[in-house]
Amino acid sequence: MRSLLILMFVVLFSGPSSGATDDWGKTGHRTMGEIATKHLSKRAAKKVSALLGGESLAFVSTYADEIRSDNTYRKYAPWHYVNFPFGGRYENTPKNKKGDIIVGIQNAIDVLKDANASQKEKEFYLRMLVHFIGDLHMPLHVGIKEDKGGNSFKVKWFGKQTNLHSIWDTKIIESYGMSYTELTNNADALNKKEIESIQSGAVTDWMYESRALCEDVYVHTNVGDNLGYKYMYRYVNVTRKQLQKAGLRLAGILNQIYG
Ligand code: ADE
Ligand code: ZN
Ligand code: ZN
Repeated sequence: MRSLLILMFVVLFSGPSSGATDDWGKTGHRTMGEIATKHLSKRAAKKVSALLGGESLAFVSTYADEIRSDNTYRKYAPWHYVNFPFGGRYENTPKNKKGDIIVGIQNAIDVLKDANASQKEKEFYLRMLVHFIGDLHMPLHVGIKEDKGGNSFKVKWFGKQTNLHSIWDTKIIESYGMSYTELTNNADALNKKEIESIQSGAVTDWMYESRALCEDVYVHTNVGDNLGYKYMYRYVNVTRKQLQKAGLRLAGILNQIYG
């Protein structure tokens, strides 16, 4: 009887967490990873596969979230996001001494380019890079500290209490109802020029794109709103586009590193 009660407890309370640690959710991260895989050069695909022991970019894209609850990896927690004031500039805002998503991405790229780094180190930082390029494209990961990137911005989703961050990490994507392969296969068709245009620019340019979207989100969302179909209609294609841009840009970075 006791073990039955324990089992019931585990089943009831150990479901997927809806906390702040599920950035872009698994589906979002896997989608951008899969889109990146489709745009790797032959050389880059070979190198990536060798580093990851045959695992796919989609598969490793959630790793940085999976290790977040392990204290050994605590120092990487601030690398998932950046906060600075609306109307302000990243460059003029006092930096988080523990780092931020821009620092995280740069560190990862540096290790991947470093001829003296070990294969183990490169593997770890490749996993981190895949995840952080995803997070960079989630508008609320370029957020404001006052509400922790929307984590303490209370709203409802189809009548259920949640927060704005969670809506953008997971709810919009999950409510759309496509798997990561379906989202990948149904991404907007783009020609070579359009792809190159998306892949151009610096990591900070991509950050400011997310910031612009974040500001738009705050214009169109109020604390206590009950969000649902209308919100989906406004933002699901923005979300799909962000996942596609993230995937293309990750591929661009890896193609550049591996020539
Ligand atoms: N914690 C504090 N700010 C955050 C943000 N913008 N995104 C995710 N987690 C955060
Ligand atoms: Zn998140
Ligand atoms: Zn993350």
